[in-house]
Amino acid sequence: MKIITAFVASARRRGLTYVATRQFLDNLQSFGDVQSEILFLSEYNLRVCGGCKRCFLRGEECCPLKDDRDVLIEKMMTSDAVVFASPNYSFQVSAIMKTFLDRLGFVFHRPRFHGKTFTNIVAQGIYGGGKVVKYLDFVGGGLGFNVVEGSCITALEPMAEKDRLKMAEALTRHAKRFHRQLLKPTHPAPSILQLMAFRMSRTSMKLTLGEDNRDYTYYRDHGWFDSDYYYPTRVGPLKRAVGATFDWMAARRFKQMEA
Ligand SMILES: Cc1cc2nc3c(=O)[nH]c(=O)nc-3n(C[C@H](O)[C@H](O)[C@H](O)COP(=O)(O)O)c2cc1C
Repeated sequence: MKIITAFVASARRRGLTYVATRQFLDNLQSFGDVQSEILFLSEYNLRVCGGCKRCFLRGEECCPLKDDRDVLIEKMMTSDAVVFASPNYSFQVSAIMKTFLDRLGFVFHRPRFHGKTFTNIVAQGIYGGGKVVKYLDFVGGGLGFNVVEGSCITALEPMAEKDRLKMAEALTRHAKRFHRQLLKPTHPAPSILQLMAFRMSRTSMKLTLGEDNRDYTYYRDHGWFDSDYYYPTRVGPLKRAVGATFDWMAARRFKQMEA
């Protein structure tokens, strides 16, 4: 049984974002091995990040804001898969979703959702949501998830029959590709791009940061300064050589900066 949690970032409890998310989860549940829950971010206390960077530098427990950030992180940690669903507001995610993402800012430095599946749903009236889907796809990767490309659902109110059919088709396809991902190995071999991002950031951190920095101690304590990738996985000889080249490139850039 896979546990899926959807985080809906519309303040409207029965708006298009919810309707699309519900339909997506119902499609998934029809496959039979899925248990899902929808959380409305508007019902949680999420405060606006003050930009002090204490989470980056000293650790997330040093954040001066007291809100539901850790409750929501725990929800993700205990899920096999998550869905971020947002309306398109002014060609971006809603403010509620952005506040949530900023509260997770330190996780982009220290990704922790490896082995879990991620997707997103963007609901809109007319135009611009395709780029928001791409943005959220990127966000999912940055947090460490295995990303399944999201969907953009377009409809004005009241919903026309042709839009309802289009939405149903899109969400059926989306649920099928999401379910396929759920059945795949949870810790796949990284792509060259993922390997590059990991190797260059870990080598830069190793050379530029010290014991007093949480990113440094987190990477060190997870063995990431010496590992092939974030998690044990099959990295063939070619990728191992390419990975070593990325480490070397990051080290060379550091030496040039020092000179
Ligand atoms: C402040 C605001 C900004 C919006 N900006 C866009 C936009 O840039 N593009 C668009 O297609 N729809 C836009 N919309 C329409 C919403 O995306 C659309 O109504 C969507 O269904 C809202 O989600 P909900 O039904 O879950 O509330 C905007 C709506 C609001 C309230």
